[in-house]
Amino acid sequence: MLKWMMILCVALSATLSAEIKVLAFAGSTREESVNKKLVFEAASIAAQLGATVTVIDLKDYPIPLYDGDIEAKEGMPNTAVQLRRLMIESDVILIASPEFNGSLSALLKNAIEWASRSENAGPSREAFKGKKFAIMSASPGSSGGAKGLVHLRAIIENVGGKVVPQQVAVPNAYNAFDENGNLKEEKIKIELQELVQTAITGK
Ligand SMILES: Cc1cc2nc3c(=O)[nH]c(=O)nc-3n(C[C@H](O)[C@H](O)[C@H](O)COP(=O)(O)O)c2cc1C
Repeated sequence: MLKWMMILCVALSATLSAEIKVLAFAGSTREESVNKKLVFEAASIAAQLGATVTVIDLKDYPIPLYDGDIEAKEGMPNTAVQLRRLMIESDVILIASPEFNGSLSALLKNAIEWASRSENAGPSREAFKGKKFAIMSASPGSSGGAKGLVHLRAIIENVGGKVVPQQVAVPNAYNAFDENGNLKEEKIKIELQELVQTAITGK
């Protein structure tokens, strides 16, 4: 009886997670990006928890730098529309951001700029409001890009996203992944598991 109840509980939790849509991307387009590796590992954890996961590479969504004149004359660029719609369709968004000069990458900031606009040229919170964000970073430095996460957290919360309290910063990142792109250190793996689990299940 107990065994069947446990199986039912596991099946129910898998069904619940399956209803959760997760979008994952890194704020780097670099081929060997350590942030891509990190967000990919976070996405795998989300999939193991039963969520429906979409991983994208911002390289496939080249968006011009935000310019009010482009927006007024040509509307939102198609790639920005696609990215924003993917965000709107998601419940949870996983973002790994490089730290550039103590902040997030311009690529990521620009993507957020466009995603915070409506398709009819005006401010919009739709891609952020009611969504949970799990943020992480990887850097060759000793702080793992944690300074950039302070800014990223503030920006997302400013446009209405709920950033879960935990975050993961991977220091010494050029040595942190094995040849298959998996994190080597058990402690960081556990932190990542807890981060993704909190974003998806709230626990
Ligand atoms: C313009 C520039 C500024 C950088 N600033 C920082 C920094 O402030 N802190 C840091 O830890 N790493 C810094 N780095 C190093 C990046 O963390 C490193 O290039 C990293 O690999 C970028 O992430 P990616 O591998 O995901 O592309 C900087 C790199 C560049 C090109």
